Amino acid sequence: MTSPSPTADRGAGPAVSVGDVTKTYGDRRAVDGVCLDVRRGEFFGLLGPNGAGKSTLVEIMEGLRKADSGSVTVFGESPWPRNTALLPRMGVQTQSSAFFVRQTVHEHLRTVAALFGAERAAVDATLDIVGLGGRHDVRVDDLSGGQRQRLAIASALVHGPELIFLDEPTASLDPEGRRALWEVLRDLKAEGRTIVYTTHHLDEAEALCDRVGILVAGRLVVTDEPQHLISTFGATSRMLVPLGRIDERKAASLPGVDAVTVQGGHLVLETRATGKVLAALDAVTGLDGVQTRTPSLEDVYLDITTRQNPQNPLASNNQEHQV
Ligand SMILES: Nc1ncnc2c1ncn2[C@@H]1O[C@H](COP(=O)(O)OP(=O)(O)OP(=O)(O)O)[C@@H](O)[C@H]1O
Ligand SMILES: [Mg+2]
Repeated sequence: MTSPSPTADRGAGPAVSVGDVTKTYGDRRAVDGVCLDVRRGEFFGLLGPNGAGKSTLVEIMEGLRKADSGSVTVFGESPWPRNTALLPRMGVQTQSSAFFVRQTVHEHLRTVAALFGAERAAVDATLDIVGLGGRHDVRVDDLSGGQRQRLAIASALVHGPELIFLDEPTASLDPEGRRALWEVLRDLKAEGRTIVYTTHHLDEAEALCDRVGILVAGRLVVTDEPQHLISTFGATSRMLVPLGRIDERKAASLPGVDAVTVQGGHLVLETRATGKVLAALDAVTGLDGVQTRTPSLEDVYLDITTRQNPQNPLASNNQEHQV
């Protein structure tokens, strides 16, 4: 990854523009009228349940799949049919990456680097970055699942692309590897590169992404900054009160309390009015030992995906929240 950093020219139009894209497999609509712009220099996270259409949408952006209808541009150009002018500017890690399995790790990445005309020095540097520095001579088919994942990520980064697509890059990484990759991705963003990635780790998306989009059954139901989404979506906070401090019925009657449950050694008070409930609790029992859990992106995500999923009996169709 020794190629020069791109200057994130935010005036030059979006990195990726998706207009009313639809893709159907047989009678299954995998992507259903998605509109989305990813800005230059942005870290964009695509979230959604298994089968929601994330990989299909990302592969359409990458030019690996053809949309049935709608428009896609990458840096203003169509990625389909295979656009050789765009290839050096994009790095792609697919969910089922292909490898030259009979090669060693170093040979594999050298081959990928050569395809893109990347400098040989970039191979060693990139293997170090993804934590495969000590595995140069191991054959690809002898790597563990997580090590293969690291090699797939290295293959997407080795030529220093401006736009990086990663489909669940942290899915099989150990916790240390996941955190190390966070730092790599933050550095890439700091260099002005654009990142589009998918994940099921909501803590990770909250920590890394400038914006997230949530896909449910092929439809993009929300696009927003994680913190803005959390604060505007009205997800509940939870207050954990040690059992025995206040009676369950009394807790339920406090102003601002929406629901009360018993979990472990605590009464759990759900509320959208944290200050009000804390004041009431303070007056009744004091706040010693009371813990507050503020809502996370995961709470909002679960709320949205549960309500939007047509297979879910709790679903409703009037919850759209496009920002
Ligand atoms: N090549 C294909 N042929 C037929 N159906 C497909 C194909 N690829 C995906 N699908 C279907 O399209 C839908 C969306 O799949 P996709 O892989 O895009 O979902 P995803 O959001 O990436 O899921 P996951 O989180 O499991 O990776 C699914 O119902 C899947 O079965
Ligand atoms: Mg997928």
